[in-house]
Amino acid sequence: MILRPFLYEPTSCASYLFGCTGKGRLAVVDPHAELVDAYLAEAGRIGASIVAVLETHVQADHLSGLPAMVAATGARAFLPEGAGVDFAHHPLADGERIDLGNVVATTLMTPGHAPAHAAYLVADRRRGTDEPWMAFTGDSLLVGDVGRPDLHAQGDPASMARVLHTSLGRLMGLPDHVSVYPSHFGGSVCGRALSGNPFSTIGFERRHNEALAHLDADAFAAALLQDLPPAPEGQAAIVAANRVGGVAAPA
Ligand SMILES: [Fe+2]
Repeated sequence: MILRPFLYEPTSCASYLFGCTGKGRLAVVDPHAELVDAYLAEAGRIGASIVAVLETHVQADHLSGLPAMVAATGARAFLPEGAGVDFAHHPLADGERIDLGNVVATTLMTPGHAPAHAAYLVADRRRGTDEPWMAFTGDSLLVGDVGRPDLHAQGDPASMARVLHTSLGRLMGLPDHVSVYPSHFGGSVCGRALSGNPFSTIGFERRHNEALAHLDADAFAAALLQDLPPAPEGQAAIVAANRVGGVAAPA
């Protein structure tokens, strides 16, 4: 199994290339439009094919690299069901698995930051069989924070926050040793208190992530909606472009 993180500083976005080198099947998670050539070059260097492009949700702060990745590789696009996109893709249901040879990614629905949001739990069948080793948590569980609930909320961010509270409970049901690979790190406007360390574990976040300290969903929602940073620049145009698999209209 391989894992290659890609950190894009201008928007503090993390994306990942991972998969099985034995069977030559790779996937990319939350690809950034500016890094398409980098993913392709790394896959070429490894000598394996990118067969799947996974989005945890429709991105609001940057243009997705999904359309270009699909065009360049013929990979299948995967999004959580209900994502509301207007291009060919496979809508994933909770528990659905994506087979990458000796590596398997299992969909864990984690709405709240966006109404359709999935985390992907990854197991290496050569190590631990089906037991998850790591989780791509997108913008649900971040390092030191959780995803803001207002960017995709149609009407009521507080109810989205309560949905996120339930989703975080699902992630916190994972064992402590599971590695956490979110889609943002410190500097992103998608959260408030993100660490500059892009990676963590379920156990460390369970102990030290203050956003997870609220057992009550209403208290969690109230705390989460305080002091939100401004929305990402050009958000509406970015979301519109990512829904059709195209480029952003001029702001
Ligand atoms: Fe997001």
